[in-house]
Amino acid sequence: MLAQKPPMGWNSWNTFATDINEELILQMADTMVEKGYKDAGYEYLIIDDCWALKKRVDGKITPDPTLFPHGMKYVADYVHSKGLKFGMYSCAGFLTCEGYPGSYGYEFEDARQFAQWGVDYLKYDFCNFPSSGDGKNAYLTMSMALRSTGRDILFAACNWGTDDPSSWMRSRGAHTYRSTGDIVDTPKSYMDIFKGQCQNIEGNAPGCYNDFDMLTVGMHGKGFVGLGGCTSEQYLQHFAMWSFLGSPLIIGGDIRNLCEEDEKILKNPDLIAINQDEECRPPFLVSSKFDKIFTFAKLLSGGRFAVAFFTLPGVEKEWDTKVSICFDDLGIHSESGISVRVRNAITGEDFGICRDGFRTQVKENECGVFICEPILK
Ligand code: GLA
Repeated sequence: MLAQKPPMGWNSWNTFATDINEELILQMADTMVEKGYKDAGYEYLIIDDCWALKKRVDGKITPDPTLFPHGMKYVADYVHSKGLKFGMYSCAGFLTCEGYPGSYGYEFEDARQFAQWGVDYLKYDFCNFPSSGDGKNAYLTMSMALRSTGRDILFAACNWGTDDPSSWMRSRGAHTYRSTGDIVDTPKSYMDIFKGQCQNIEGNAPGCYNDFDMLTVGMHGKGFVGLGGCTSEQYLQHFAMWSFLGSPLIIGGDIRNLCEEDEKILKNPDLIAINQDEECRPPFLVSSKFDKIFTFAKLLSGGRFAVAFFTLPGVEKEWDTKVSICFDDLGIHSESGISVRVRNAITGEDFGICRDGFRTQVKENECGVFICEPILK
C-alpha cells in the first residue's frame, strides 16, 4: 500500500526552483545517502517544476535535453541505484505554474510516460487550470491515469487547499494533498500554516495525509523561497509541528551544506518516529491558550502516547510559557493509580516518572515534545 505513513523525501523547489539539472539531482541522490538522510527515513527524491521543454515533442512531455542530457529514465535509474525513490512534477492545467506543459487533456499519456521512466511519486499542481473545469475531477482523472499504469506511483496532489481538499482528496485517490498556498522561509509562514491546519488533520490515516508543504528547515534565507529565514529554534519548532501533526516530511533546503544543528533537527529520531508511528493516528488539540500556546496529544503504538507544546511569539508574560499537561485531560484519571514514564523527544533524555501530569517551560518560538509510557501497577 502506498503512503502507509506520511511520505518523507527531498524536493528541488524551495531552494532551486528553475535552476535544476541532471548533475544537481544526481548529487542530491548521493547526498541523501552519504549524509544519512536515507537512513533517517527520507526516501523520495523529487524534481519539481521546470524540467521539461516548453513545448511537447510529438505530443509527448519531454525533458529539456540541455538540463537532462541523458533523459529521465537515466535519472530514475540512478536514483533507484541508490535505494531511493524518484518523484516528478506535473500540473492539472494547460501549463505548469512556471509555464511548462501541463497534463490537462494528456493525463493518461503523461502517466504512461512517467511510469515508463520509472517514476514513483507525482506532485500534481493546479496552475492554469481552465475556469470552466472541475478541480475534483482533474485530480480523479490523474489518479485513474496513474493507477492504470500498473506502477505504484504516489499521487501528491497540490491544489493549495482550494475547495477544502480534506473533504474529498482521499476519495479521489490522492495520497497527500497540499492544503495551503506556498510556504516561504519565514517564521510567520510556517506558523500561519500550523495555525490554519492544526485542526484539519483528523482524516490523516494510512493512504492519505494533509501536506503542510515542504520544510524550510536549514534554508536561513538562502534559495528561492528563502525570504529572511528562521532561527534554528524556529526550524526545530517547524519540524516538530510537521512531524507531530502527521504532515509529509519533504525537505526543501540544500542538504549538501546544512549546518550540523539543522541536520540534527531533520534527523531527530524521536520526532520522525512520532510522524511515522505505525498506528498513524492523528493528534488532537488539548488546549490553545491565548491562541499562542498549543498543547497536543497523540496516541502511539505500543500503548504509548506523545504530548507536544508549541509556543508562538506574542505571549505577554514569560510566566505564561510555563506549560503543563494534566493526564486527566487525556483520559487517565488520577484515581486510576497509573504512573507515566516520560521522555523528552527532542533531547532523548528521561524526564522522569510522573503521576497526574507534568510541567515544563516552552518559551516563544520553542517546542516541547514528550513520549509517554503508562506503567501498569
Ligand atoms: C506552485 C506549488 C509549488 C511549486 C511551484 C512550481 O506554486 O505550490 O510548491 O511546485 O508551483 O512552479
